[in-house]
Amino acid sequence: MRRLTIRGIAAVGAAALLTLGTACSNEREGSADTADGKGFAKDALVGVALPAKTSENWVLAGDLFTSGLKEAGFKADVQYAGASTTVADQQAQISSMVTKGAKVIVIGATDASQLATQVAQAKQAGATVLAYDRLITNTADVDYYIAFDNFKVGRLQGQALVDGMKAKKPTGPWTVELFSGSPDDNNSKVFFDGAMDVLKPLIDKGDIVVGSGQTGIKQTAIQGWKAEIAQQRMDSLLTSTYGGGKTLDGVLSPNDTLARAVLTSVKGAGKPIPVVTGQDSEVESVKSIMAGEQYSTINKDTRKLVAETVNMVKSLQKGDKPTINDTKSYDNGAKVVPAYLLPPVIVTKDNAAESYAGDPKLAPLTK
Ligand code: BGC
Repeated sequence: MRRLTIRGIAAVGAAALLTLGTACSNEREGSADTADGKGFAKDALVGVALPAKTSENWVLAGDLFTSGLKEAGFKADVQYAGASTTVADQQAQISSMVTKGAKVIVIGATDASQLATQVAQAKQAGATVLAYDRLITNTADVDYYIAFDNFKVGRLQGQALVDGMKAKKPTGPWTVELFSGSPDDNNSKVFFDGAMDVLKPLIDKGDIVVGSGQTGIKQTAIQGWKAEIAQQRMDSLLTSTYGGGKTLDGVLSPNDTLARAVLTSVKGAGKPIPVVTGQDSEVESVKSIMAGEQYSTINKDTRKLVAETVNMVKSLQKGDKPTINDTKSYDNGAKVVPAYLLPPVIVTKDNAAESYAGDPKLAPLTK
């Protein structure tokens, strides 16, 4: 899989917005046409297949899809994959949405490469397939991708790690460990590549030293984004590499769940707290940031991502092409998937109040 460059697009500047094809906004009330530019019934069924609840954002997304799609007049079938049988669950859920006649199927893939058969079924039945947050790979049957800019997320994490370490100890070398997400999630590599875009030049110069020498994505991956696996890996790294008072200055963690697992491990070992990055703005991590433990997270406002996805569904219903702003970055191995990317925001203790000002759940935590 390649991620083509052109980072400038990531800013989601209004100027970069472009709409593919001709917009025809004729309302097709009661029409049961296929989604290939012809629209479909205003009260059609929309399927939403989400992965297991590996982070709070998925839980919130499910609730928001149920309410947002209903509010827009659609019928919603929102399903989660189970915790242990994730791939088979999701495959069966998508097939069932196709059988029930869903006109759009929104998928947060549990395993990017295991859904080609189901999305082919969806296409044959005339449904439009939207990859939500995570890309679906090796199939030309995915129509659109909607997500926060994942490469930018990784770059922000890498930069936060550097900034946090510099704030504590102005000159290097700094000793770090690297963690990446689940190998079956296409985002994991994109996050890692983004972070390494910032960190690798510093590693090459010797300003940053990866204590264990584990710098490859395979060595750093955490299967299933599971906290317990991250904690075990951190425990063994501390034993193997950080005995005898050796300092660990920072840990690149790809999300909040894993960041807290790393912090639990470090605290359990009685070590000083390193700079630890994260992502998702989970409640416990925002509390940890405000308490001066976790250093950073990323604000990817799920409310915005779901609202934009519902907007895409509304456009499809009318027979319009949805708005996209990236036609280059997401080659899924079979095609470059047209994408709508939203800008992620880095959050530390310094800008938490400002970042979460409009968020009823998080704003009170920053007071
Ligand atoms: C999402 C992250 C999330 C992770 C684990 C990724 O695909 O983009 O926001 O932390 O999955 O659920």
